[in-house]
Amino acid sequence: MATYLVTGGCGFIGSHLADNLIEAGHRVVILDDLSTGKTENAPKSAEVIIGDAVDPTVVEKAFKGIDGCFHLAAVASVERSNEAWAETHKVNITATVNIFEAAKEKKLPVVYTSSAAVYGDHTEMPLSESMMPRPLTAYGADKYSCELHGRVAWMTHQIPTAGARPFNIYGPRQDPKSPYSGVISIFADRMLAGKPYRINGDGKQTRDFVYVQDIVRVFMALMAQLDEGCAVYNVCTGKETSIAQLADTMERLCDYKGEREYGPARLGDARASVGTNALLKEAIGFVPQTPLEEGLKHTLNWLRQEG
Ligand SMILES: NC(=O)c1ccc[n+]([C@@H]2O[C@H](COP(=O)([O-])OP(=O)(O)OC[C@H]3O[C@@H](n4cnc5c(N)ncnc54)[C@H](O)[C@@H]3O)[C@@H](O)[C@H]2O)c1
Repeated sequence: MATYLVTGGCGFIGSHLADNLIEAGHRVVILDDLSTGKTENAPKSAEVIIGDAVDPTVVEKAFKGIDGCFHLAAVASVERSNEAWAETHKVNITATVNIFEAAKEKKLPVVYTSSAAVYGDHTEMPLSESMMPRPLTAYGADKYSCELHGRVAWMTHQIPTAGARPFNIYGPRQDPKSPYSGVISIFADRMLAGKPYRINGDGKQTRDFVYVQDIVRVFMALMAQLDEGCAVYNVCTGKETSIAQLADTMERLCDYKGEREYGPARLGDARASVGTNALLKEAIGFVPQTPLEEGLKHTLNWLRQEG
């Protein structure tokens, strides 16, 4: 049994990770400023510290007595980073550097969350870690910078780090009411209410959708073997789904008969995004695998219960 700090543990992915760590017998401390997270997402037995990871003294305190850190706290929105460049930069970078700094003395392992947004305008698919990042958004640039700091953490300070580049994560607890939320939760919210929904762009843009429980398993496996290095891994399924295909499947699962609208494409939105998970498979022998339709059913069931 170990004690882990989960930053952003009141959020969508972090709360599932906290649940699974506790189920596996670990002790969990959460640091979250509740900017998008909710305390009710956190498992009851976790210690929740409400505070800002941008403040180094808060991070230092949260690190007391832990064996490792999962760093997920961030402004997790490309759109928000387009609107509030400097403000989101502060959270997405400063908080990450604070985490590495706090891990420095005891050389504690850190699994942190980057993003597939680092690939930016690459058009050759599948996206692979061997490609040079070419972010198009402040969010992607900051996430790439986190990876560079992850490298510094290991090379200069011997802090073992592993960076995850998640593609599109979806599942229960993804806030459907937020305009910055993922496409699946936004579509589901509208379809279940029988309201028209909008596709940004022509719907032919593709994404690689990963069910939340799968990324949680990846995080835990990365931490379990993290004793050296600063590797970065795609967290993806390798399956490409267009937004129009996704919409068709969701309409069927929701028995939706309403309208589908099309609007302008969003700033910095990639035309295609699908990754290879070969490196992750080699490292931990596991890759995300929940079929999209199965993951969508879990997500829709949760939304039906919530609403
Ligand atoms: N959801 C996805 O598809 C996806 C894809 C790629 C990467 N990611 C990354 O995964 C991580 C988790 O994302 P999520 O989708 O669960 O988002 P989320 O918004 O649900 O979770 C982020 C959590 O961090 C907290 N937080 C934000 N700023 C903070 C600060 N300064 N101090 C302390 N806590 C703070 C929020 O309150 C929230 O609980 C993020 O780093 C995000 O960039 C997510």
